[in-house]
Amino acid sequence: MPQNRSFVLICKSSDLPPLSSHPFTFFQAGEKKEGFLINENGTFNAYLNRCRHQGITLDWDTGDFYRPDKKVLICKTHGATYHPGTGACAGGPCNGKSLFRLPLAIEGEGIYLDLSVPEPFS
Ligand code: FES
Repeated sequence: MPQNRSFVLICKSSDLPPLSSHPFTFFQAGEKKEGFLINENGTFNAYLNRCRHQGITLDWDTGDFYRPDKKVLICKTHGATYHPGTGACAGGPCNGKSLFRLPLAIEGEGIYLDLSVPEPFS
């Protein structure tokens, strides 16, 4: 990984089975934020844990972001759904908005959050 960038280990890929999710917290510009990592059948994506409907967390602290059928991510408050691969709204009150994607770097088994990329969601 580039030496001039800032990375934080989220977890090891072997700790996250396919179609499962892993919440995490991180600090950016001195502010604590929540994110979550998903394993979409071998592709890892991370998003800010902030629903685009009312700006609250999606999971009610359960750590589970997939709908039971595992086809979409779901906000447990009013049922907005998001495509796991892109974060785009898939239905419900997110009204065409997307989850904010968090940049990742993968090295070996390590999945890292890349904090050197400017945040798009402040
Ligand atoms: S806050 Fe997520 S659907 Fe309303």
